[in-house]
Amino acid sequence: MTGRRDGLMRSSSNHSFRMSRIVIAIAIGVVLGFIFAFLYPNGLFRSDPPTSGRRLSKSDLQMASSDCESSERISMLKADIIALKEKNAELKKQLRELSQKLLSAEQRKDNAETEFLPLVQQSKAGAFGTVKASRTNPNVAPDGSVNPRLAKILEEVAVKKEIIVALANSNVKDMLEVWYTSIKKVGISNFLVVALDDEIYSFCKSNNVPVYKRDPDEGVDSIGRTGGNHAVSGLKFRILREFLQLGYSVLLSDVDIVYLQNPFDHLHRDSDVESMTDGHDNRTAYGFNDVFDEPAMGWARYAHTMRIWVYNSGFFYMRPTVPSIELLDRVASRLAREPKSWDQAVFNEELFFPSHPGYDGLHASKRTMDYYLFMNSKVLFKTVRKDANLRKLKPVVIHVNYHPEKLARMQAVFEYYVNGKQDALDSFPDGSQ
Ligand SMILES: *[C@@H]1O[C@H](CO)[C@@H](O)[C@H](O)[C@H]1NC(C)=O
Repeated sequence: MTGRRDGLMRSSSNHSFRMSRIVIAIAIGVVLGFIFAFLYPNGLFRSDPPTSGRRLSKSDLQMASSDCESSERISMLKADIIALKEKNAELKKQLRELSQKLLSAEQRKDNAETEFLPLVQQSKAGAFGTVKASRTNPNVAPDGSVNPRLAKILEEVAVKKEIIVALANSNVKDMLEVWYTSIKKVGISNFLVVALDDEIYSFCKSNNVPVYKRDPDEGVDSIGRTGGNHAVSGLKFRILREFLQLGYSVLLSDVDIVYLQNPFDHLHRDSDVESMTDGHDNRTAYGFNDVFDEPAMGWARYAHTMRIWVYNSGFFYMRPTVPSIELLDRVASRLAREPKSWDQAVFNEELFFPSHPGYDGLHASKRTMDYYLFMNSKVLFKTVRKDANLRKLKPVVIHVNYHPEKLARMQAVFEYYVNGKQDALDSFPDGSQ
């Protein structure tokens, strides 16, 4: 969709570009006309060139007459001037008309989509039930100049232009260890830690974990070293942009996640954003009709509302498309403007709220991941561990997002799913205490 819109904008701006070139050409013609009229009142191809570049004045004419020129010559000159003036007037008129056209073309720019749509997309709609809109936007052209050093690392580490990315500082070192241990155990090689301090950088280096540390002068980094959780979250969206600009699809991962299978074997890759959900059943994860009751309205007491539990901004896959990058930009700039806001709330609002008066919504395609495969810790501890059948499921990842004792629960998850310790999950309460 956005790709198509880009095409349209381009064709309309080409149109304006052509128009303005025409206008410039005509303007040059008019100016040259004036110059020749004044420099060569006798015409270009007369054998007697003018003696100066002065404007042809009345006294010149008089001199000409007092010199031995005939009055016939003077009237020829006058006729030439009149003809040139007429020509100028005609050119000016054309210039005015073209400017007018250019102006209205620019005014139509806003409506370019509807205006030019028939020219671009002329296929018929097709029979009932056969039409399908595209949700898979084109990738951006990779731009290696954005960050050559990162580009080089990604060339080595990414697989099929895809990579798992986690940001970490030394506050989360223990969780990071469980995180990469589970990833390696599954056999995933395309993952990268963005180290936010030196300690994590050398920790990763000494444990053979692919790591990337930004240069200290790369701007946003001081947040990463000193910042709290939410400041780091803002940084995350800024850093991710470069991965997408370099042409890579990114699976952004918090470090409080245990990997049990390779997520790249379980992605659909049809949307700009494919995300883990904070929902805990079909309704909350995938959306439902929540009926709001207002008895005072009598006959119309029921108002239907749309609800969905938020996407988890700690685990999502993003294709390198314009809507994806726009989402990152919108979230990052809102987090900068509203420092007290929660990045996950902002992420969801930008992704889901429609355009409305005074606001242009993001038009990104999205997909909710299967909540049994990409499982949050509420689903695990409230439902799955208590159900004999669900206990046998092998999730792809488990995100300990709903619980504060993250490290202990991560280790328990690892014990249960990787080492087969059947009672590893039992000692924990459903929620926090
Ligand atoms: C939830 O949705 C899945 C398909 O997405 C379906 O197979 C399953 O039966 C649903 N579960 C319930 C409890 O409705």
